Amino acid sequence: MLENNSVKINIAIDGYSSCGKGTLAKSLAKLLGYRFIDTGAMYRSVTLYFINNAVDLASPKAVEAALASISIDFLVTADGGQEVVLNGVSVEGAIREMRVAERVSEVAALSPVRKKLVAMQQKIGENKGVVMDGRDIGTVVFPDAELKIFMTARPEIRAQRRWNELQANGDSISELEVLANLSHRDAIDSSREDSPLTLTKDYRVLDNSELDREQQLQLALQWVEVAMSGLPAS
Ligand code: DC
Repeated sequence: MLENNSVKINIAIDGYSSCGKGTLAKSLAKLLGYRFIDTGAMYRSVTLYFINNAVDLASPKAVEAALASISIDFLVTADGGQEVVLNGVSVEGAIREMRVAERVSEVAALSPVRKKLVAMQQKIGENKGVVMDGRDIGTVVFPDAELKIFMTARPEIRAQRRWNELQANGDSISELEVLANLSHRDAIDSSREDSPLTLTKDYRVLDNSELDREQQLQLALQWVEVAMSGLPAS
C-alpha cells in the first residue's frame, strides 16, 4: 500500500488558477499521509498584508520592511487541509476575497516576495512527504521532485469553479468578471520575469475539463506508484 511505504517523495502540482490543484493536492496528501501546502495561500497572505498596510509595491525598501514583519504559519484542519495564519491571525477567508485576487499576481511577481516564500517552502519539504501546489513548485521550489503534475482545464470551466467559490464566500461578481480576472492572472503568472509558470518536459499533464475528482485522484495515484517504483527502498 502506498500510504505504508516508508519511502517518501515530494509531489509538485503546478498549473493555472482554478484548475482544481488544491482539491487534488489535498486528497493525495490525505491518502498518502503527506503534508499539503497551498503556496498560493502564502502569496495571498502577503498580498493581504500589503493591502492592509498600504505598502507601496514600487518601493523596494517598503517591500523589504513589510516582508520582515510578516510571519506565516499553517494550521492543519480536520479534513487534512490547511488554514493560513498571518502574524497570529487565521486569514483563510480573507485571502480568498476578490480584492486580494485582484492584486496577488502583481505581488507574486516581486522577487523579494518570491525569495522569502520559496525559502519557507523548501524548508517545509526538505524531509520529503509533501504535496505542494503552486506555479513554480516543479521548476524552482523542488526541481528534483519525484512527481510533477501540471494541471489545466478549459477557461470557462475554471471561471465557473472560481465563481462558485466566490459566491459561497459572499462575493457578488459576474462570471465574466471572474473570467477576466483569471485570464489577467494567467497572463502575468506565465510571463513574469521571475519564475513564470512553465510547462517543462518532466511534468505529467492533467487536463481535468472532463474528469471528476475521483478520476483525477486515481490517475495521480498511478503516477505516484510509478514515481515510487523508481526509488530504492529505505
Ligand atoms: O493558486 P492561487 O490562485 O491561490 O494563487 C494566487 C496567486 O499567487 C496566483 O496569481 C499566482 C501566485 N502564485 C505564484 O506566483 N507562485 C506560487 N507558487 C503560487 C501562487
